[in-house]
Amino acid sequence: MSEKEKLIIFDTTLRDGEQSPGASMTKEEKIRIAKSLEKMRVDVIEAGFPAASQGDFESVQAVARTVKNSTVCGLARALEKDIQRAGEALVDAERKRIHTFIATSPIHMKMKLRMEPDQVVEQAVKAVRWARQFTDDVEFSPEDAGRSDIDFLCRVLEAVIDAGAQTVNIPDTVGYNVPEQFGSTLRQLIERVPNSDRAVFSVHCHNDLGLAVANSLSAVMNGARQVECTINGLGERAGNAALEEIVMAVRTRRDLFPCDSTIDTTQIVACSRLVSNITGFPVQPNKAIVGANAFAHESGIHQDGVLKSRETYEIMRAQDVGWNTNRMVLGKHSGRNAFRTHLEEIGITFDSEEDLNGAFARFKELADKKHEIYDEDLQALVSSAGFDAENEAIKLLSLKVVSETGEPPHSEVVLVVNGEEKRVAAEGSGPVDATFKAIESIINSDTELLLYSVNNITSGTDSQGEVTVRLAKGGHIVNGQGADTDIVVASAKAYINGLNRVWSPVVRAHPQAADV
Ligand code: KIV
Ligand code: ZN
Repeated sequence: MSEKEKLIIFDTTLRDGEQSPGASMTKEEKIRIAKSLEKMRVDVIEAGFPAASQGDFESVQAVARTVKNSTVCGLARALEKDIQRAGEALVDAERKRIHTFIATSPIHMKMKLRMEPDQVVEQAVKAVRWARQFTDDVEFSPEDAGRSDIDFLCRVLEAVIDAGAQTVNIPDTVGYNVPEQFGSTLRQLIERVPNSDRAVFSVHCHNDLGLAVANSLSAVMNGARQVECTINGLGERAGNAALEEIVMAVRTRRDLFPCDSTIDTTQIVACSRLVSNITGFPVQPNKAIVGANAFAHESGIHQDGVLKSRETYEIMRAQDVGWNTNRMVLGKHSGRNAFRTHLEEIGITFDSEEDLNGAFARFKELADKKHEIYDEDLQALVSSAGFDAENEAIKLLSLKVVSETGEPPHSEVVLVVNGEEKRVAAEGSGPVDATFKAIESIINSDTELLLYSVNNITSGTDSQGEVTVRLAKGGHIVNGQGADTDIVVASAKAYINGLNRVWSPVVRAHPQAADV
């Protein structure tokens, strides 16, 4: 990096990413993603909003205890009780940051907070001072800065920097800004805030107009030195700026940018897959950097060019972002130790010998059907659908499907529901439809199926199919996943996984709801 300034990468997959409907993660899942982010050398990991619920508090605490090389951050509204919770959750972190925020746009101050601008400045300053009692590393965000008055923003930022905020983050909360204007806002703020040299200016862009990455990069061109982003662009509504796109744009166009991150880009694809696998949000094939087609050349002209000289059509190398690491890692004859050691290498550890044994048994079952086992198969094997299965209220015991041309597909399902075995048969328009109908006739869940999608985890017809379902019930949305070499079985597992999540909804406060 030599003479280049540092661009700080602040990942909020575990906080803003988790605010996507259906993307909520368990503590164990958050730890796995946090380890992967740490391995990628992300500078700051926003692990959650500790005041949201006891579960969120414990997740942030667990990430704080696990991660050693990245700063772990907790979000807090500008309220003493929130900041206290964040401080407590982060006590054991090697490096900790508290990120506090309050809205500054006229519409948010009037309609949401019902506060006068002077009160907002006062509350912001108090929040930063409370947070400084727990750590020097305090970040402040004027929420909805993208629609705030620039003179007022200058006033708030000067006051919070004086109070001790070391990072000031400018969120385009509703994704309303466009690149040139957002860049100009950053430049003006840095020029006009008298003490701007005492803080790092950061940006946090939402993608409602598809401009989150462009706006963030424009801000970097104009002086921002931290970007808040998420893996695969996960996040509220249309999502946040995608980490992989920000990092690779700055790295690839190092001729234009005055700064660079210290991210290990070879970890990007693995982390993207992990997040997709855990949240059940598939990555679209044409997604930049991490989509399956991002480096695939379909047309003959392109292929010819790439074969003669890669640079004719490729601006980045696939292996630099972690593609082509799709290698066989374990097989039918691999033993328990090799299994455990390899899983540790890819960041998966087990809390008990019992969990290890359960996962090893599922691995052996898979290896009987599929001779070459890849990292992606292993990730799916320990994803929540398989990993927590022992503790779930509804379990799949067996499934028999008959599908014949000219005949209606028929499915026979045996479930164990709260320890009791239940058996039912149903017909449907296809084998998956028949299976879902059979399960539904036992459970009577009254859920609405919002999404059903199938992806192959690796290539080839012996690959495992990974199924995602999104279910809604009473305004609560969950994702369910399942993987198997038989896609009807994978579908049944995904549906059951979703139903188990509907049964135990996570009740938590939303950080951006009014509570001042
Ligand atoms: O989008 C937003 O404004 C946020 C803040 C909490 C930083 O997520
Ligand atoms: Zn946000």
